[in-house]
Amino acid sequence: MLHLKSADLKKQPIEILAIPVCEDKDIHEDPLIKAVVQKALVLKEFSGKNDEQVTLYDVPDIKARRIIMWGLGKSEKLDLEALRSMAGKIVKSCIKKELTDLWFAVPASEKIDLEMPAVLEAMQEGAFLGNHIFQQYKLEKKKTALKQINFLLKTRITKELRDRCSRVGVICEGTCLARDWVSTPSNEKTPEKFLRTIVNLAKKQRLKVQGFSESQLRQKKFDALLAVAAGSQSKPGLVILEHRIAGAKKTVALVGKGVTFDSGGLNIKTGGSIADMKSDMSGAAAVAAALITAARLKTKVNLIGVIPIVENMPSGKATRPGDIIRSYAGKTIEIGNTDAEGRLILIDAMAYALKKYKPQMLIDLATLTGACVVALGEKIAGVFSNDEDLAASIASAGEKTHERCWRMPLPDDYKELLKSDFADINNMPASRWGGAITAALFLSEFVGDTRWAHIDIAGPAYLKKENAYCGPGGTGFGVRLLTELLDRV
Ligand code: BES
Ligand code: MN
Ligand code: ZN
Repeated sequence: MLHLKSADLKKQPIEILAIPVCEDKDIHEDPLIKAVVQKALVLKEFSGKNDEQVTLYDVPDIKARRIIMWGLGKSEKLDLEALRSMAGKIVKSCIKKELTDLWFAVPASEKIDLEMPAVLEAMQEGAFLGNHIFQQYKLEKKKTALKQINFLLKTRITKELRDRCSRVGVICEGTCLARDWVSTPSNEKTPEKFLRTIVNLAKKQRLKVQGFSESQLRQKKFDALLAVAAGSQSKPGLVILEHRIAGAKKTVALVGKGVTFDSGGLNIKTGGSIADMKSDMSGAAAVAAALITAARLKTKVNLIGVIPIVENMPSGKATRPGDIIRSYAGKTIEIGNTDAEGRLILIDAMAYALKKYKPQMLIDLATLTGACVVALGEKIAGVFSNDEDLAASIASAGEKTHERCWRMPLPDDYKELLKSDFADINNMPASRWGGAITAALFLSEFVGDTRWAHIDIAGPAYLKKENAYCGPGGTGFGVRLLTELLDRV
């Protein structure tokens, strides 16, 4: 869908040519483009301010049918995220206008003080992701995604640029896969169905795939996971995906929370808080999609994805508040609250990953706490880690991809809040404050000395209202982040 092209604008038939424009600086190289920008800037209705736009038709000297100028505002404020957003918004406006073949004029990188490959990548990401539409459940009023998105380059198109372009495509496809999974309603992604879908797609990418059924989980004593699944009509499962690459020295284990619906269980959620709980498998979606992406990109590190999948429901068979269970790792847990279910399935999956694969590094992603959303809002994930370097790498991968991550503390003395009178630990903290931290501390009790990071994505995993390059629904948060991170470890 993404193409790099050099073309003669005088001759090339184009349905719509998009030109980004700064209000205070000429950022293009091509004389034809410079001239048409000058022409637009004399108009009263366009000065290049952020998100301002104007469309010109049948401009002499340029064969394009229409040219849309898109304001980027002041050049000093221009960064990669501004370019990503601009590209996403232009694609979305083309979809609204029912256009199908878009060309972008790419700013000259020297003029905006950014590196050329990075400029292109950001625009390609915004365009690709902005072109994704989730509409499987609509019979009518379907939108049509753009067929082709072309990037007009003056410079010689090198093999390196082409390779990077197809890499961006693969990563964005992974992101959209995760988005679709998250947006799918819970009735259509029961644990059995979700597990099947992951297994089938992973096999296509030649990942080594293993699935544990309920009876296997019972036999292996994944009792914390099973306690969460007990109330549901759907059987739980666990998927293990392996990406092995010759010569890799390190093994990284990724664990993703896969609660296909979180009703809260017998501590049922009240008010509006239950509404978007189909998204409670966003960690699982990100991990599965990241592994599929890694397989396609032949990422140079061994990866193990361990994905526990359950539904958290109330019923006569459901686990009760006050019940005590023994986790896979052996520690007993008092279930103080059935709505703190994520940590229960995660610790069984994590303990299994550590015991079976002895990875050098363990990273879990989960929509774990509302408290994390209170702390950091809906756009930034919380990172908790026992390792400085790992935490720093995650934060920096987050900046690069704009899947932003902020490190949070793991204070030892807060562990007191997880004490149980009857079991080794309580899944419900004794204080309602600092809930993202106590959840992370709960997990930390099960990782031993392994380098570990927990990423709480409860905020950024799901969007109620569309933004520049994502529709309403799943965001696919974590796929781009993990892919970038795995290149650095
Ligand atoms: N899945 C929720 C967390 C969540 C909240 C995700 C909002 C996305 C948006 C999690 O299972 C949960 O219910 N957490 C409880 C923990 C509490 C009972 C200790 C919470 O955050 O209230
Ligand atoms: Mn819950
Ligand atoms: Zn949950």
